[in-house]
Amino acid sequence: MPAIEIKKGVYWVGAFDWDLRLFEGPIYHTPNGVSYNAYLIIDDQITLVDSVESRFFGEMLEKIESLIPISKIDHVIINHVEPDHSGAFPDMMKLIPNAKIHCTQKAKEALLKYYYGEEYNYNVVKTGDVLNIGKRNLHFIESRMLHWPDNMMTFVPEDKLLLSNDAFGQHLASSHLFDDENDMDMVMREAKTYYANILMPFAPLLIRKIEEIQKMDLDMDMIAPSHGVVFRKDPGRIIDAYLKWAKPEMNKKAIIVYETMYESTMKMARAIVDGLSSQDIEVKLYKADSSDFTSIFSEIVDAKAVLIGSSTFNNGMIPQISYFLEELVGLKPRNKIGAAFGSYGWGKGAVKKIEARMKEMGADLVEEGLEIQYAPSADELKACYEYGKSIGEKIQQSC
Ligand code: FEO
Repeated sequence: MPAIEIKKGVYWVGAFDWDLRLFEGPIYHTPNGVSYNAYLIIDDQITLVDSVESRFFGEMLEKIESLIPISKIDHVIINHVEPDHSGAFPDMMKLIPNAKIHCTQKAKEALLKYYYGEEYNYNVVKTGDVLNIGKRNLHFIESRMLHWPDNMMTFVPEDKLLLSNDAFGQHLASSHLFDDENDMDMVMREAKTYYANILMPFAPLLIRKIEEIQKMDLDMDMIAPSHGVVFRKDPGRIIDAYLKWAKPEMNKKAIIVYETMYESTMKMARAIVDGLSSQDIEVKLYKADSSDFTSIFSEIVDAKAVLIGSSTFNNGMIPQISYFLEELVGLKPRNKIGAAFGSYGWGKGAVKKIEARMKEMGADLVEEGLEIQYAPSADELKACYEYGKSIGEKIQQSC
């Protein structure tokens, strides 16, 4: 794809990673690929905002050189140092060693550690600092922990344009760059998955940052993140969605994730689904080893309850559930009702360990864990149904 003009004199010069299926190592599933958005602002002085992952430096260079020789770049703004945006930095700086690099103190420290670029010309910036490049004044807004401590955004008032970096992104490679050119249901689904897996741990900071930006009363009609589509038709839609997810606004919905050895825990899970459903709760049931965790975390964002089940295995959980919980606890979903269940043979263990992890993530364990030996009898399945029903009532009361 060629460079794309998003505002007069402002160009997208990023790259699409159509084939990427795992982001941040093995963690985040990206069935629709990823894009790395970099932007070139052509003014009296020329500015590149962010770059791309190292393998895509050639593609970015080609786009830049279709507009100007890269040697003409005066300023490089590093809104975020994570290698998906800064990977091209060393190769790029070999071609523009005299360009001034604008970034936060944390970003400078990380750039030096990642890329040993001591010889370059750094300008450390903070919220309120402004860079004049001719007709435009670029305003820097620190956005710590959205997604790393070094993050910041760049606002261009003359273009009513917020270059928001990771915030408001989606992991999505699309041949159409703008919101109004895409299926927005699909874009917002990807945006929610991205929020859940990348930014949910920082929800309180995110709310504060959005409120701070709202108080700045920025005259803005476009948000261009560093991943996914650019919001030009309705930038308010993604801001409203973020506030809803970060708050979070809960639905009468329960997510059940389980793993089973001889189907006893599976039977318990299905009876619990029936009990929850009897209270008009939307339920999604996932068997851990055949489910995509990235998508489950997205579903958890607005679900009031999370129920986890496992057979006892070696006095603990089945490893797929341990792995799931390790990631879930790290994502820090807030204000959840939690519950644990599972079958055991001659010794218990799984349910207590699941409960301990759920307490770590701050879940409100509204029912004692439900444990059944060997295989559930008809009466025990009825108890599972009642267990789901009781949790369903509590969801109804709290939403
Ligand atoms: Fe897209 Fe935190 O990097």
